[in-house]
Amino acid sequence: MKKYLVAIALMVFIGACSSNQSETKTDASAAAPAPANDLSGNPDYQKGVALIAKSDCLTCHKTDTKNIGPAYKDVAAKYENTDANVTLLAGKIIKGGSGVWGQIPMAPHAAMSEADAKALAKYVLLLRK
Ligand code: HEC
Repeated sequence: MKKYLVAIALMVFIGACSSNQSETKTDASAAAPAPANDLSGNPDYQKGVALIAKSDCLTCHKTDTKNIGPAYKDVAAKYENTDANVTLLAGKIIKGGSGVWGQIPMAPHAAMSEADAKALAKYVLLLRK
């Protein structure tokens, strides 16, 4: 009986290891595909990904498809990646906005620092294809 349990434990252990390996593989390939040009090494991109994970942006925005808010790739297609547009969009992230993409307003993020809002705006504009 004991041997039997040890064998099962071993199988589960080996199974867990091999599935971990395949997860790592998919993660590595999943990081690349979104934009055609590989952004994963870009520090602005990395900062944006980290900030977005901490904020509520993904409740309303997706990278490639319209959700409650516009897809980030559509925002990136509309605004060129310039300092002026980074400042403009950072202001909208902090103060909120409406009427550009439809009737639903964008919620303000009054507690967010200007530096973080600019980092997020830069990240969004990097998604231009
Ligand atoms: C409650 C839903 C919601 C949340 C949360 C949200 N957004 Fe939005 N966002 C919207 C909507 C709706 C619009 C379109 C507003 C408009 O038509 O002007 C928008 C527009 C935008 C735009 C384009 C603004 C423009 O004038 O073109 C940017 C950039 C943006 N959001 C970034 C963010 C970031 C970054 C976060 C997280 C800090 C975030 N949003 C969180 C709903 C949301």
